[in-house]
This record gives sequence, structure tokens and C-alpha cells, in this order.
Amino acid sequence: MGSSRVLDAYYPRNFAVHPRANDPAYKTSLLRSPRHALLSIDPTPTELSGPGFSPADLDPLDHDLTQNHAHTGLPIGERIIIHGRVIDEQARPLPNVLIEIWQANAGGRYRHDKDRYLAPLDPNFGGCGRTLSGQDGSYFFRTIRPGPYPWRNRMNDWRPAHVHFAISGKAWCQRLVTQMYFEGDPLIQRDAIVATVADHQALDRLIARFDPHASLPFDCLAYRFDLVLRGRRAQFFETLLPE
Ligand SMILES: [Fe+2]
Repeated sequence: MGSSRVLDAYYPRNFAVHPRANDPAYKTSLLRSPRHALLSIDPTPTELSGPGFSPADLDPLDHDLTQNHAHTGLPIGERIIIHGRVIDEQARPLPNVLIEIWQANAGGRYRHDKDRYLAPLDPNFGGCGRTLSGQDGSYFFRTIRPGPYPWRNRMNDWRPAHVHFAISGKAWCQRLVTQMYFEGDPLIQRDAIVATVADHQALDRLIARFDPHASLPFDCLAYRFDLVLRGRRAQFFETLLPE
């Protein structure tokens, strides 16, 4: 195990910021949240030392969702760039971090067997992508802006447009999962899942900013979403739900 793969010390979680694992307004959270206190088990060397990713593990189009499932043409919808940096709480760049995303298509439909929403699938859009952060921690995706979709919770609940993110760092136990929302979406304030994040500043860090400077003329608009791992300004991650 090389010294660069050894984990830095963890900072304690701020349970005043992270939402409850079970929230009556988010009905399925009641069934999925733990009912007993979790056990703390020391990580093994395998968990601390792996995985290690290299660009050779990825396909050149993995980061481009407008092309990586295109069969008969380009997918339908608003073409966008999502980009940002992966940094730690001291704003140090985190290179070689695997960033995986998945999302609904422009109509709000996932390419998933259990998604029965009436919006059609797009034959040219798969909805999955991945990339590695560069030496300066930067990452870049091309995709289609996802549509909002209804979900069975309260009557007439709709998820705001969002992109799911999973970030894998230097160790398996650093796999973090979260969601990215879009600046200006009126559905954000009405969403029962978003509402579990009570801290406004924490919620603000889940919202990508419109970034006209990164847009490409006659091609696509851009949104910026920085990923801050651990510490006071870290994003709320689904894997860090308090028990
Ligand atoms: Fe979703």
C-alpha cells in the first residue's frame, strides 16, 4: 500500500447539518432507514487501499452522455455541460477521483425496468456516464438536461430535475452518493427529499450554478457543480445519513 493511498484522518460528521434518516414526509425513508444503532467496524486494509482508477479503465465517450448511447442520432433535449472541481475542505484538488452520474432523460424517464412513467424512452440516451477528475481536481460531462418526474409519495409529488452523483475516492469506504439540482428550479423548494436537508447552506451546495462562461456557442449551456469532500463545507451525502 503506497503512502499516497493511505487515508487522511476523518473529521467528525456534523449531525446538526445532516438530515434525519427517516422523515415522515419522505415516506419510503421510514422503511429504508435503520431501526437499530449501527455498528462501527474498523476498515480492513483492502477497504483502505483500493480501488485505484486509471484513464485506461474508461471509454473515451464515458463522460459524454450525448454520444455514449447514440444509435440513430443525438438524444432529444437541452444539451448541457456539467463541470466543476473535486476538492477537500481546504480547497486542495483531489485528482483521479471516479465520478459516476446517472439521470432521467429529457422527458423525466429513466432507462430502468421499474420506471413506468408515461414519458417515452429516448433510443439515443442511456443516462449513465463516468469520468476521472484531473490533476487539478476538475471534471467535465456533456449530457442532456433531465426532466422532472412524478413519484409516489404525497399526492402529485414531483422530483426536481436532478443528476445522481457517486464519487469514489482513494478507498471503497470513501464512496459518496448525492444528487445535483439546477439553479432556479421551482420544484426544489417543493420536494420532500430536498426538504430533509434542513440546513439552507447545505442545500445550496447541492444546487449547480448556471455558468454562462463555460457554455459553448451554438452548442450547449453549462452548469458548475463543485464537489467538496468532508469537513465544514462538505456536501450532504446520502451515505452519511445519521443513524
Ligand atoms: Fe432520480
